[in-house]
Amino acid sequence: MKTTGGSDAAKRNAGESAADLVTDGMVVGLGTGSTAAYAIRAIGRAVDAGLDVHGVPTSFASRELAREAEIPLVALDDVETIDLAIDGADQVADGHLIKGGGAAHAREKIVDTAADRFVVVADPSKEAETLDRSVPVEVLPAARQTVASAVRSAGGDPTLRTAERKDGPVVTDNGNLVVDCEFGLIDTPAALARTLSETPGVVEHGLFVGVADEVHVGRDEGVTVHE
Ligand code: 5RP
Repeated sequence: MKTTGGSDAAKRNAGESAADLVTDGMVVGLGTGSTAAYAIRAIGRAVDAGLDVHGVPTSFASRELAREAEIPLVALDDVETIDLAIDGADQVADGHLIKGGGAAHAREKIVDTAADRFVVVADPSKEAETLDRSVPVEVLPAARQTVASAVRSAGGDPTLRTAERKDGPVVTDNGNLVVDCEFGLIDTPAALARTLSETPGVVEHGLFVGVADEVHVGRDEGVTVHE
């Protein structure tokens, strides 16, 4: 799983702090990325010690990790509720998030927003006053150019995400492409989220506006919880 930004100790503290919220009988959304991975491993250890939980993975990668950790898994459409979702973020500002660094934001948004409680795990490098990182947008392959043109009209600068080790585009778990869109400072995330959602061919974008219940920011020593 890719590692970004802050220290491993900070990510571990954030992930394990969120995993401590998991209690017997819960259905838990399992996020994607290196910080959420610490939560998944901690939940796996708790399962090993006798905790009865079921996980709903948000990506192929989180499913593989959860299997390794021996967490019993269920599909999203086989559960009526998700008690808690734990997921990482690429940037956090005023409770709003940019996600999708791992190209998993479409399923992450479904699982995270379906949960009764959505807890974000992050290291301090993710904190900002205002969102300003590029916004990942998952697009149907046929809509790559039309979406890019709509993003330009909305004041953004779109770049097709390419795979680091392959001579080609990143393909999501859903078989689509990812266009990373620079908008500079995002002063009105809700308005931009609406514009992107309304663009034909956009499967999902990485702006998560007002959906986080808590943010656990891990530090090298300890965790700060924002509610
Ligand atoms: C994947 C995501 C990740 O949660 C996000 O990229 C953060 O990852 P990491 O914890 O490795 O920094 O949104 O789509």
